[in-house]
Amino acid sequence: MNISIIGAGRIGLALGAVLADKGHFVLFTDRDSQKLKDLSRGKISFYEPGLKSFLRQNKSRLKWTEDSQEIISSKMIFLTLNLPIKPNGDFDLSGIKDWTHRIIRQTQREKILILKSTVPPGTNRMLQFLAKKAGAPLQVVSCPEFLRQGQALYDIQNPYRSVIAGPSPKINKKVARIYKNFSASPIIFASPETAEIGKLAANSFLALKISFVNLMANLTEYFDTNGEELRRILGSDPRIGHQFLQSGLGFGGSCLPKDLRHLTFQGRRHGISMRLLKEVDALNRQRSEHFFQQIKQRHKNLRNKTYALWGLSFKPGTEDIRLSPSVFLAQKLLETGAHLKIFDPLLKTESSTPLSSILGKKGVKAQITFHKNPLSSLNSAHGLIVGTNWKGLGKIPLKEIKTRLKTPFIVDGRGVFNVKELKKKGFTVYQSGLFRFPN
Ligand code: UDX
Repeated sequence: MNISIIGAGRIGLALGAVLADKGHFVLFTDRDSQKLKDLSRGKISFYEPGLKSFLRQNKSRLKWTEDSQEIISSKMIFLTLNLPIKPNGDFDLSGIKDWTHRIIRQTQREKILILKSTVPPGTNRMLQFLAKKAGAPLQVVSCPEFLRQGQALYDIQNPYRSVIAGPSPKINKKVARIYKNFSASPIIFASPETAEIGKLAANSFLALKISFVNLMANLTEYFDTNGEELRRILGSDPRIGHQFLQSGLGFGGSCLPKDLRHLTFQGRRHGISMRLLKEVDALNRQRSEHFFQQIKQRHKNLRNKTYALWGLSFKPGTEDIRLSPSVFLAQKLLETGAHLKIFDPLLKTESSTPLSSILGKKGVKAQITFHKNPLSSLNSAHGLIVGTNWKGLGKIPLKEIKTRLKTPFIVDGRGVFNVKELKKKGFTVYQSGLFRFPN
């Protein structure tokens, strides 16, 4: 089948690559024509494991085009635009509306428009209304995307669930056919509003879970507790589950914070108190400040201090530093005059990293150096800070870390190290949820 994808971003590209792999012919468009040119040459502007080779393997079934007529000629059109969020928490729907109007104008035969972007509840109905009003045979179906960055290809092919919310069972069935070669996860047929709210609620719930464990971590610092044991006590109850119980620097990225803000906006709009979600956000914001204070308490004047910082991205498996808690912590350190020796496996050089977004208000370029391997970043540093739980960091020999550091001080913002081991080896360590007075 010919399938079009509007928005060649993280979701659109991963989805298109998988669909092409399943044998469909996929047409991509994007408002950024340079991006399309780059993509046609195999160049992707972000990192997603396996995506580049997947696109290369399926090259013969992919087309990159700026011709909107060609895009609209497909019977199935996916909208995968990343909607900007306004200062009040509402989404900017102009991109989606603009494309829908274009499709409506050129649609004579039945077409299905599949909304993958995260949108406010009511968006599907609004677009469907526009089509109806114009007499266009366009059917709008909501299929929110739940993929995780860094695992996008796997998640698309093995979703926990697929949600399909169209105007009729007949249309839903047509869309469900696309998923027939995917792993046998449940397909949930829902009303469009349920699908729209469902996506926002799922991400907000994940955020809530993280802020809850971080709140517990704040408290357990006053008792002689062990984070790992606490996680097991909670997670062993299937009603709670083991995942998303890692306390630390908190959540970042483009989805959790954004969806939380949007649901809060919806509550405000409808007179529903969203104090719970506001608190989730507030607790999350406090995390980087909390870690910063631990470093300050220990080292007092940070002006002449240098720290190795492992990981800048908001989570492992991505180079994405949007709302990354590690970056917030880095900014606080730089603002007080500390120096940072940064190691991140995907952000190895200054040119691969938008420095302006790391420096913060008062940081200066000279305070940062980038390192291609974690060990070299440690040399003569006053301590090591873990900002992202990149695989393998916790396996680096402690002996090696200790000999390189000026002082054996570790602030583990992601729980990658075994604290007992660290203490045995003579490190002073701060880890989330751990007894507040190190050593
Ligand atoms: C999220 C949702 O998981 C996904 O279903 C949705 O489609 C998009 O948003 P993503 O933004 O890729 O995916 O990140 P996710 O893996 O959810 O992690 C979000 C943040 O939470 C990261 O900063 C991560 O470090 C943090 N986190 C996660 C914790 O602090 N503790 C945990 O236990 C788990």
